[in-house]
Amino acid sequence: MSRRVAVIAGDGVGKEVIPVGVEVVSALVSGIDFEPVPWGCEYYERNGRMMPEDGLKTLAAFDAIYLGVIGWPTVPDHLSLWGLLLPIRKTFEQYVNVRPVRLLPGVRTPLAGRGPEDIDMLFLRENTEGEYSGTGGRVHAGTELELAVEVPVFTRGAIERVARYAFERASERRRHLISVTKSNASRFTYVLWDEVVADVARDFAGVRVERVLVDAMAARMVSRPDSIDVVVGSNLFADILTDLGAAIQGSMGLAASANLDPTRRHPSMFEPVHGSAPDIAGKGRANPIGAVWSAAMMLDHLGEPDAARRVERAIDSVTDEGVALTADLGGAASTKEVGAAILAALRR
Ligand code: IPM
Ligand code: MN
Repeated sequence: MSRRVAVIAGDGVGKEVIPVGVEVVSALVSGIDFEPVPWGCEYYERNGRMMPEDGLKTLAAFDAIYLGVIGWPTVPDHLSLWGLLLPIRKTFEQYVNVRPVRLLPGVRTPLAGRGPEDIDMLFLRENTEGEYSGTGGRVHAGTELELAVEVPVFTRGAIERVARYAFERASERRRHLISVTKSNASRFTYVLWDEVVADVARDFAGVRVERVLVDAMAARMVSRPDSIDVVVGSNLFADILTDLGAAIQGSMGLAASANLDPTRRHPSMFEPVHGSAPDIAGKGRANPIGAVWSAAMMLDHLGEPDAARRVERAIDSVTDEGVALTADLGGAASTKEVGAAILAALRR
């Protein structure tokens, strides 16, 4: 069965790491057609927008989207992201952003005395609303009366669907779910969140659920990572915590993600967590592992779990060997050399 994947490499190092992911998948699975889509900040400079007017309609026809990075210093971030990345997540109801925080073998975490047996968390981020709702505005621009409001929006439906997904994942793992909020200071939105999670919990009696405030959660990730399995959090909180997670994993360049519409009505999107990295872009030195791991998550979604496991094992063996590593992991290898090492590991 043939499947069509739209490839938006995007900006900066996205253009360097995404071809590695495409090559790895193509070496392993036949019948996946990758179609490059040239949108991003360069497209903006030529056309005054991040994608064509009918861009979302074009993407809707694909089975999945493989995305590199959106954002470059020539375009204000809020324009580039609201012009491409965020509309995709929202329009296609990619309501859960899946972010594994697993320490790969051979990689050094900055947490003293910790190893892979201590660090294996799965973050599930609400991906369509909350602090990313886009509700707000500015008035009296440039005057002393200038005012800006940005109102987080939380709906029972969106909390419920991501909570349900989180409980399902927790049921398959260590049967422990942490729900992260700030319902001591936020009197409305996060109190609703807590109530909805408690409602959903009734359907999952076998899962122990714990409520942890986001500030305490940040500390716990550092001091007791081994006490954390599956985590569900709002758009902003889980955004922040997963950058902390990437640092705990040893590098932003390793972190992977999947933006899923579990109903499969719309295409899901797979992207590394790191940014466009203007400081190293164009030099061929970026770590492709986050992008390749995200491609493995795409294989899972496209019904190729065996291939997905093989890619993950190949990544593990490359970090374990510690020979082909990019500078962020203390090595001197290029993006392409790491790609070649992953391909070689797949052949073994
Ligand atoms: C991420 C990124 C995005 C987010 C930015 C670029 C809008 O930080 O995917 O984590 O906040 O969701
Ligand atoms: Mn982020």
